[in-house]
Amino acid sequence: MGANQDLATLLRARTPLLVVESAEEGRVVEAFRHAISQVLRPLYTWSITDGLVRLDMDDEESRGLPDASLTLGAIKQFPEAGVFLLLDFQPYLRYPMTLRLMREIVQRQGTAAHTLVLVGARFEMPDDLVAYMTRFELALPDAQALAQIVREEAFQYSREHGGRRVEVDAEAARAIVRNLAGLTDADARRIVRKLIYDDGALTADDVPRLAEAKFRLLDRDSLLHFEYETARFADVAGLARLKRWVQQREPAFLGKRMPVKLDPPKGMLLLGVQGCGKSLAAKAVAGGFGVPLLRLDIGTLYNKYHGETERNLRAALKSAELLAPCVLWLDEIEKALAAESNDDGVSRRVLGYLLTWMAERKAPVFLVATANDVQALPPELLRKGRFDEIFFVDLPDATTRAEVLRIHLARRGLDADAFDRAALAEVSEGFSGAELEQLVVAALYAAAAEGKPLETRHLDEEARATRPLSVIMADRVEALRAWARERTVPAD
Ligand SMILES: Nc1ncnc2c1ncn2[C@@H]1O[C@H](COP(=O)(O)OP(=O)(O)OP(=O)(O)O)[C@@H](O)[C@H]1O
Ligand SMILES: [Mg+2]
Repeated sequence: MGANQDLATLLRARTPLLVVESAEEGRVVEAFRHAISQVLRPLYTWSITDGLVRLDMDDEESRGLPDASLTLGAIKQFPEAGVFLLLDFQPYLRYPMTLRLMREIVQRQGTAAHTLVLVGARFEMPDDLVAYMTRFELALPDAQALAQIVREEAFQYSREHGGRRVEVDAEAARAIVRNLAGLTDADARRIVRKLIYDDGALTADDVPRLAEAKFRLLDRDSLLHFEYETARFADVAGLARLKRWVQQREPAFLGKRMPVKLDPPKGMLLLGVQGCGKSLAAKAVAGGFGVPLLRLDIGTLYNKYHGETERNLRAALKSAELLAPCVLWLDEIEKALAAESNDDGVSRRVLGYLLTWMAERKAPVFLVATANDVQALPPELLRKGRFDEIFFVDLPDATTRAEVLRIHLARRGLDADAFDRAALAEVSEGFSGAELEQLVVAALYAAAAEGKPLETRHLDEEARATRPLSVIMADRVEALRAWARERTVPAD
């Protein structure tokens, strides 16, 4: 509870004017009540309905005084240096009398060094007061407080349901507490309540539901997309080295206890031939870690918010940090960060900001960037140490082609072993994963046209009739490979 500790320090220092912008008035008052017990100054609240009320001890005489100016006048004469929480005070900041009195109090023209605290959802501070004010933000609940919220809500459910205990999966409960990080007390409580009350249980399938609910709460800009469809590594053929790399880093990323302290992984860049599974791999990383996948739409960052590009990027990255642990996916990064573009240096600054963020962020946000066109990538991005690793996703070899076919046949409810996949892998030399999938789709149509079930020969005929992109654009693919050989690690 670092920030709340700071509050005691601020009060001890007799800060003249604190501004707390929060919709959680109850928690703000609680935080002050708690801090004041360490500081030993009298604590009052003022609201238009209750007037001035002393909080730190019963003091009937302090009640009353609903008028704002009269209250400030009285505060000015208080003999003891008090802390006064002025609730919903924004409207009164318009009156000359109120302003004048506040200024006199914060400039210590009264009897004692009081602290005025403005508490409300939002304040626009008059210039006269800005110089005296200190903003204070309520600490978000930490892991311990979040675990307590989960316990309280489970207890509450049980009480309302004739003592029926909430079925709690320990592993899931830990993941839920971890994923609640970054939410306010009230939001965390609301979400947990919903997860429990839906089915009287906290289980593994509540974890993605929590991520979704949290995302809705945080995402107020459309730059960040919550990808509901993640994948598992079992859906991805080949890329053995990449999979192993990710699996080795999972415990460190999720902050699991380990015998040796390892640097948490920051992210990877996937370069490669079109349709060979870069986007799929990004989804599988999130699925493999078991964390939400957020896609940052860099394209709209430029088009839609003209002139506000950097502010929006900052906001999106901040949201991603609040959703941590998560995977942040920057698809087709070269489109946004083209090496030479005529945009008055905006893309330079965006790149700079992104690189700084990558180097400095503390929250477990794993960045997966993908790119096709390496020529367009700014060299800074490829420098060692930016990404933990740069993988090259090449065309699949024969073994991997057979595996891609297996995955896509099985996905369509077919018995993959009934096909001669080794022979098909031979005739589909040079096919990308996407083209192999397309092969299955087209062959199914051909078989349906004959009114027959799919056979190896349908696939074989389709393969022989297809000219893959790698043949049509052989030069480009070869150039890409040559480039990658020197700069990247093969993903397979
Ligand atoms: N290694 C693979 N294993 C299984 N399926 C694959 C593989 N590679 C590609 N596919 C299939 O092809 C589809 C398209 O692949 P994906 O979008 O991941 O390629 P990409 O490398 O991101 O291509 P692009 O450069 O065009 O963005 C996938 O959704 C998947 O169905
Ligand atoms: Mg892609």
